[in-house]
Amino acid sequence: MLEVRGVTVDFHGLRAVDDASFRVDEGRIAGLIGPNGAGKTTLFNTVSGMIKPSAGSVRFEGRDLARLDPADRSRLGIGRTFQIVKPFGGLSVRDNVLVGALTRGQSVGEARRTAEATLERLDMARLADVRAASLPLALRKRLELARALATGPRLLLLDEIMGGLNPTEVNETLALIRALNAEGLTLLIIEHNMHAIMQIAETVLVLNQGRIIAQGPPAAVTRDPQVIAVYLGVPLEPA
Ligand SMILES: Nc1ncnc2c1ncn2[C@@H]1O[C@H](COP(=O)(O)OP(=O)(O)OP(=O)(O)O)[C@@H](O)[C@H]1O
Ligand SMILES: [Mg+2]
Repeated sequence: MLEVRGVTVDFHGLRAVDDASFRVDEGRIAGLIGPNGAGKTTLFNTVSGMIKPSAGSVRFEGRDLARLDPADRSRLGIGRTFQIVKPFGGLSVRDNVLVGALTRGQSVGEARRTAEATLERLDMARLADVRAASLPLALRKRLELARALATGPRLLLLDEIMGGLNPTEVNETLALIRALNAEGLTLLIIEHNMHAIMQIAETVLVLNQGRIIAQGPPAAVTRDPQVIAVYLGVPLEPA
């Protein structure tokens, strides 16, 4: 479904992503892990179209995305959340989700129904009239997920949506991700919460200094000595 080949991103002399290649097959849940500054979010930005790579290609369902801007890619079915959640603070929860739904090219009436259905789905209907700015972090993260889902993605890129959540909230989020996946959504998930990612990802990609240093099933990747050295510090204990 998603195929990244030889992607390199340079920022004024800093190589943030260095010749990264990987694929995510339809229906899968893949994890993307690695230390702070490894280039994970930058890699997402090359997939969603916010950054043009200096080399390499990104393909979605066989189609080269190079000439497509973020709105085009969203319409093709690539959705994403942002690591730094930035809802329209003055708008209600409902209207924030409506903004996502409107990018689909639906009529306003249809978009309203999409927004309501998405809020129901995420158990946020009771918060529909609350101003986004007044939500606590966990709910702002959930709103960010709702906004992204309302765009109607078939591939969804999640950038640390579990950061700052308590264990109950993490478990709720994992259950939701599993349910969305069971309905056909393909996911690529950046996450620092290793126990969380171990529980849902079928494949894990490890990025370090812009390079993919390991990829494979989570149990194998977390035993990789290089992954332990650069990221985990110590071997991961079972949850
Ligand atoms: N727009 C930009 N301009 C210049 N440098 C940037 C830009 N965006 C990211 N960088 C740099 O690129 C490198 C990779 O950053 P990135 O945000 O992709 O890392 P990350 O793996 O997402 O880290 P974290 O886990 O902290 O979110 C870092 O050194 C960062 O400072
Ligand atoms: Mg990041």
